[in-house]
Amino acid sequence: MVAVAILAAGKGTRMRSDLPKVLHLLGGRSLVERVLIGCSDLQPERQLVIVGYQANRVKEALLDYPDLEFVEQTQQLGTGHAVQQLLPYLADFQGDLLVLNGDVPLLRPETLKALLETHQQHQNAATILTAQIQNPQGYGRVFCDSSNLLKEIIEDRDCTATQRQNRRVNAGIYCFNWQKLQAVLPQLQSNNSQQEYYITDAVNFLSPVMVYDVADDREILGINDRRQLATAYQILQSRIKDYWMAAGVSIIDPDSVTIDDTVKIGVDAIIEPQTHLRGNTTIGSGSRIGPGSLIENSQVGNNVTLMYSVVVDSSIGDNANIGPFAHIRQQAQVGAACRVGNFVELKKSSLGDRTNVAHLSYLGDATIGTQVNIGAGTIAVNYDGKHKHQTTIGNFARIGSNNTLVAPLNIGAHATTAAGSTIVNDVPDDCLAIARSHQTIKPGWRPKWHQE
Ligand code: UD1
Ligand code: MG
Repeated sequence: MVAVAILAAGKGTRMRSDLPKVLHLLGGRSLVERVLIGCSDLQPERQLVIVGYQANRVKEALLDYPDLEFVEQTQQLGTGHAVQQLLPYLADFQGDLLVLNGDVPLLRPETLKALLETHQQHQNAATILTAQIQNPQGYGRVFCDSSNLLKEIIEDRDCTATQRQNRRVNAGIYCFNWQKLQAVLPQLQSNNSQQEYYITDAVNFLSPVMVYDVADDREILGINDRRQLATAYQILQSRIKDYWMAAGVSIIDPDSVTIDDTVKIGVDAIIEPQTHLRGNTTIGSGSRIGPGSLIENSQVGNNVTLMYSVVVDSSIGDNANIGPFAHIRQQAQVGAACRVGNFVELKKSSLGDRTNVAHLSYLGDATIGTQVNIGAGTIAVNYDGKHKHQTTIGNFARIGSNNTLVAPLNIGAHATTAAGSTIVNDVPDDCLAIARSHQTIKPGWRPKWHQE
């Protein structure tokens, strides 16, 4: 049996923030959520989160995970003190306890599995995840013998100058035989520079304790300040982009592109520079996205071309051609093979297949049929200052340039409106509507100042 405990009670003083450290976002998810997702593959019997600083806020942020048990650490007296709070909760538990720092968000599930396997195979009292890193500053240093049996862990601030030279560090991830840990937890002392109870001291009372070096030390980055948060984001990004490139997606200039790990991309898609794909977004195969685009919570079909545009909470059909400088938002739906061009904004509007809105238009709350042409500079006037109103336009309609369509309004199928019209009344099918003043010609007229 395996139980998981996540240490998430600390304030995170070094973040200099009102938000508890473990709730800071990394690529759209909080640090603690990333830790939880990292261990979900293990299917632990129990999952406990130790909360303290702004406990309710942390609990609220994890409402989507109903199986969690929250353990309150009312005073944050150190990582060892945090683990001591588990004693009443796990009094009858038998098995292994995985202890994870809530601020180490990049651990891969495979690493946790390997740690647990090593632990169980050697029947260790504890197994500690470690890494040998170039810049060990800030981490607890791990001292062990040639057969990877641990001697002690000394916190960075408690190390002598010589001890600080040791580049093997404690990742803050531990597997304990709970029965054995349970027996020694009450013995922890706080005689160190921080006057805290350290979980790392528990290993002094246990044997055998083995260390397990992680293969990729980027996984164990602990987030204590905003600089490390930014570094973690870069690591996460390169992981996500490497994954998609290996899966057949071209990313031109990956350093200028960001992709959330919730995004899905089809093969042979091309992601151009300065493009950002966020949230629940899918990009179909063969689509060319960017340069300079942001797509968030949106579904983009196959073979779409989209450049210098923003698409949020919307969908785009196959073979559509979007931009440059289109803004598509709030449940807008663009059909297949549509053209949405320069400086066009669509809000809560749908375009049927093969419909074009090519230039300088705003369409809000409009339902537009298939193969419609919307002339340049057309505005759907959807707002009377108090309420929003709907416009519908039938299939094959042709809206002239510079039209003002005052909603609520129905324009029929195959209807045509003349350029420069302000349409306030419904237009039936197969009609031409002209709604503009007649042109007046005054022969021989010049402005006074031009008269000689
Ligand atoms: C800890 C380890 C250090 C290791 C490093 C890896 C100890 C004493 N040191 O140091 O050896 O190299 O992690 O990242 O464990 N927390 C609580 N209650 C508390 C104190 C902390 O829940 O009373 C939580 C924090 O919210 C955080 C985690 O424990 O998620 C680690 O605390 P932090 O203060 O960041 O420890 P480090 O100094 O990083
Ligand atoms: Mg830390």
